[in-house]
Amino acid sequence: MTSLRIGFLGAGLIATYHSKSLRHSGAPVVRAGVFDPDRARAAAFAAASGHTVCDTEDDVLDGCDAVYICTWTNTHPRLLEAATERGLHVFCEKPLAFTTAEAQRMAALAEAAGITHQVGLVLRFSPAYLWSKHLIDDPSAGRVMTVVFRDDQFIPIQGHYASTWRGDRSLVGAGTLLEHSIHDVDMLRFLVGDVSRVSAHTANFHGFDGIEDVATASLRFANGATGVLNSVWHDNLARPSLRRVEVFCERRHIVIEGDDWFGPVSWTDSDGTTGSLEGEALEAAVAPMRDGSSNPDGEFVRAVLEGRAASPDLHTAVKAHRLVDAMYESAADEGASIVV
Ligand SMILES: NC(=O)c1ccc[n+]([C@@H]2O[C@H](COP(=O)([O-])OP(=O)(O)OC[C@H]3O[C@@H](n4cnc5c(N)ncnc54)[C@H](O)[C@@H]3O)[C@@H](O)[C@H]2O)c1
Repeated sequence: MTSLRIGFLGAGLIATYHSKSLRHSGAPVVRAGVFDPDRARAAAFAAASGHTVCDTEDDVLDGCDAVYICTWTNTHPRLLEAATERGLHVFCEKPLAFTTAEAQRMAALAEAAGITHQVGLVLRFSPAYLWSKHLIDDPSAGRVMTVVFRDDQFIPIQGHYASTWRGDRSLVGAGTLLEHSIHDVDMLRFLVGDVSRVSAHTANFHGFDGIEDVATASLRFANGATGVLNSVWHDNLARPSLRRVEVFCERRHIVIEGDDWFGPVSWTDSDGTTGSLEGEALEAAVAPMRDGSSNPDGEFVRAVLEGRAASPDLHTAVKAHRLVDAMYESAADEGASIVV
């Protein structure tokens, strides 16, 4: 295979992001079908991307080699199963599903079908997080002692998200922890390692049934480090999506702030040395550390064409789901300590 017919299920915000990203990557793709029950969205997406509007999910699936699942979360498991039945390669958005059990089933189906699968945990490609991991893994930093991870955004049923489904538990599953901070949970695992115990509390200020808008978790990592995750969906439209991560190693302090991708990342060592990288300088610093390009979509296509596994795959997502579920279990029991 020298080029790949790509189909899209869902033609909203993240589908548009991936479509543009595929174009920027220069990957050899043929634009096949797109389906969205919102016909106007499908038409606008098709006009901008060169895809062809289909009348059904099946029409998309029957006309492509690889499919992007960019729909509401409740539909991900069913659509992934339909894709694996046809042996299609899949890029599935996060969260995979509402529960770890469903996510595990999806990963098992993908594995059994022998397809290439990737999940939209795109921070795995971020120069800011890759550089921070490099700083953490440097032996001169010493061991990670603790991490403070804060993530805040205005509740994404407004503003440029233009989505109401994130207020409907039957479509989104839960609130800020599952829908948004599964990225953060994945980055905590990426930066520091596996988590052995969690204790968490959630709150619901907006009053949407089952949609927590605050999640605060205390973590114990298997390597002995501790951490705190604080995730909030507020109504401050001046703050669209902002993270601040502070990592304390024995002899190095690291801060990721500003842009999720381009930093800056700043650090201070015990000998007084300081450093800061952002933008193109940050991208250049991590380029030698990458296996491929910085483009998640280009890398997905490359993995499919080379007939190999992609990264991050559904198994990586399952591990993040497991941690998210443990946090919900703890929150439901007033912060009880849960073994992950
Ligand atoms: N990786 C990321 O950073 C990231 C960012 C945003 C959203 N997401 C995830 O992507 C998914 C979609 O989010 P979004 O922001 O694009 O939402 P969106 O509302 O902008 O778009 C979703 C679209 O899916 C369509 N849809 C629903 N059911 C469908 C079906 N059965 N077949 C085809 N289309 C269907 C809807 O009509 C809607 O147009 C969610 O799971 C979300 O969590 C991931």
